[in-house]
Amino acid sequence: MGKIQAQLIKLKSGLPATIKACESKDAEFFPRFAELVGKETPFTRFSTMDAPTAEQTAVEWDQDYSRSDRLHLGVFLDGQMLACLKFKQPYPEHEGYRHVGEFGIMVLREFWGQGIALQLMKEMESYAKTAGALRIEAKVRDGHEKAISFFKFLGYEIEGVRRGAVRVGADFVNEYYIGKVRASRHELRILNPKKSPPRLFRD
Ligand SMILES: CC(C)(COP(=O)(O)OP(=O)(O)OC[C@H]1O[C@@H](n2cnc3c(N)ncnc32)[C@H](O)[C@@H]1OP(=O)(O)O)[C@@H](O)C(=O)NCCC(=O)NCCS
Repeated sequence: MGKIQAQLIKLKSGLPATIKACESKDAEFFPRFAELVGKETPFTRFSTMDAPTAEQTAVEWDQDYSRSDRLHLGVFLDGQMLACLKFKQPYPEHEGYRHVGEFGIMVLREFWGQGIALQLMKEMESYAKTAGALRIEAKVRDGHEKAISFFKFLGYEIEGVRRGAVRVGADFVNEYYIGKVRASRHELRILNPKKSPPRLFRD
């Protein structure tokens, strides 16, 4: 399946940014982005770990570009990365789990409220549908009200708590599992024609 074509998006500020599937040539922008994002809030994985190098990022993005079960989306403006979203189906070979996709999203604080996350989520959900990911999930740290409200607005529900899942300095912080199931009975029969769908799946 084809990756997402580069497109111009107009930010609320009026500036034109580019949204695209990241390739190895874009990797040089990632280390600075990840370092900044990690310092801006305590809510991302880069808040508690070093950013990967451009070389490590290039290898990952290059490998993942050709895989339909992986997508790295980036938003770029004037040689700077403003945002990224990573999507993957962790078990694409497993009949029981291949319909599950997971994501993580990060936007530079300076560009919050510009509609970037909304655009990234829209692109990711449309890609996920084509990739057969009928269930999409993520983890959000406790206290991150902006993200929780954003994901609920998009139809995600809090499904559980991972108690003390992340260590942030001296604290062990809870994480929420959030998820959205989008399969109709019809889609589920296509995935698994021999069995009748469980009630969880909605018409
Ligand atoms: C959470 C995060 C991704 C949001 O990114 P963002 O680019 O600011 O989000 P957007 O501008 O696309 O959009 C949010 C929009 O969704 C809509 N929206 C969100 N929550 C809403 C709600 N409860 N009701 C109605 N509309 C809502 C609004 O239109 C809102 O725009 P507004 O803030 O101008 O009103 C961003 O704050 C971020 O990256 N934080 C740091 C990294 C991080 O924590 N990532 C998430 C880890 S799980």
